[in-house]
Amino acid sequence: MKKWIQPAVNVGLFAVLLLPLYSAQGGEPEKLKFVGDAKCKMCHNMASSGKYWDDWSQSKHAKAFSLLKGDEQKDAKCLKCHTTGFGEPGGFTDLEKTPKMVNVQCEMCHGPGEKHAVAHKKENPIPHSWKPEEKTCVKCHNKDNPNWKEDKYTDKNGKKTGFDFEQAVKLAVHKVKKEESK
Ligand code: HEC
Ligand code: HEC
Ligand code: HEC
Ligand code: HEC
Repeated sequence: MKKWIQPAVNVGLFAVLLLPLYSAQGGEPEKLKFVGDAKCKMCHNMASSGKYWDDWSQSKHAKAFSLLKGDEQKDAKCLKCHTTGFGEPGGFTDLEKTPKMVNVQCEMCHGPGEKHAVAHKKENPIPHSWKPEEKTCVKCHNKDNPNWKEDKYTDKNGKKTGFDFEQAVKLAVHKVKKEESK
C-alpha cells in the first residue's frame, strides 16, 4: 500500500491506465490520490463561493452506493461506477477499509484531489479540476451499466439516446448558483 503514497513517482508504469487524468501543465498523465468529499467540503461549501458540497450531497450521485444490495456491494463489476476511485490510490477498496469512499463523489467528475486540496491557489495549477466534459460522464453512463436504457433521452434532433450530456448536466450537476448564494 505504501508505494501508492508517492503517486508522482509511479507515473511510468501506470501511465497507460490513466488516459483521462492529465495535468494542467503539459498533458502529462499523473497518478494522484483520491482524498474524499469531506476535504472538498472544507472549502467548497461557503455561501460566498457556492455551496457545492450541500448541493452534491442531495444529488443521486451522492446516494449511488445504496442502490447496491448484499453481495453487489463487494462486486467489482458494480463498484467501479457506484463508488469513488475504485482500485485507484486512495479510492474505494471495501466497506470496512474505506467507508468514506462510497458513492459518486466530486472526484469522479473533477479528478483525484490530492494536489488541489493543498495547492489550490491560482498560481498553483489545479491538475484535476478541469470542467467535466461528456467523456467524464460516459465512463459510467454507458452500456456496461446493467440498467442502461437506450431510449432514456431524446436529443435535440429528436433521436433517442442512452445519454445526452447537455440534458444530463442540467439534471444532475450543481443546481446551486454562486450568484444566488451570495
Ligand atoms: C483548501 C481549500 C480547498 C480544498 C480542500 C479544495 N478546493 Fe477546490 N478550489 C479551492 C479554491 C480557492 C479554488 C479557486 C481557485 C482559483 O480560482 O484559482 C478552487 C477551485 C476548484 C474548482 C474549479 C477549478 C477551475 O478550474 O475553475 C473545482 C472543480 C474544485 N476546486 C474542486 C475541488 C474538489 C473536487 C475538491 C476535493 C477533492 C476540492 N476542490 C478541494 C480551494 C479548495
Ligand atoms: C458502467 C457503469 C455502471 C456499472 C458497471 C454498474 N452501474 Fe448501476 N448504474 C450506473 C448508472 C450510470 C446508473 C444511473 C442510470 C441512469 O439514471 O441513467 C445506474 C443505476 C443503477 C440502479 C438504479 C436503476 C434504476 O432504474 O433506478 C441500480 C439498482 C444499479 N445501478 C445497480 C447496479 C448493480 C447491481 C451493478 C453491478 C452488477 C451495477 N449497477 C453496475 C452505472 C453503472
Ligand atoms: C456528476 C459529476 C460531478 C460531481 C459528482 C461533482 N461535480 Fe462539480 N462540476 C461538474 C460539472 C459538469 C461542472 C461544470 C458545469 C456546472 O457548473 O454545472 C462542475 C463545476 C464545479 C465547480 C465550479 C467550477 C467553475 O466553473 O468555477 C466547482 C467548484 C465544483 N464543481 C466542485 C464540486 C464539488 C466540491 C463536488 C463534490 C461535493 C462536485 N463538484 C461534484 C460535475 C460534477
Ligand atoms: C463514477 C460513475 C459516474 C460518473 C463519472 C457520472 N455518473 Fe451520473 N450516475 C452514476 C450513477 C451510479 C447514477 C445512479 C444514481 C441513482 O440513480 O441513485 C447516476 C445518475 C445520474 C443521473 C440521474 C440522476 C437524476 O437526478 O435523475 C444523471 C442525470 C447523471 N447521473 C448525470 C451525470 C453527468 C452529467 C455526469 C458527468 C458530468 C455524470 N453523471 C457522471 C454514475 C456516474
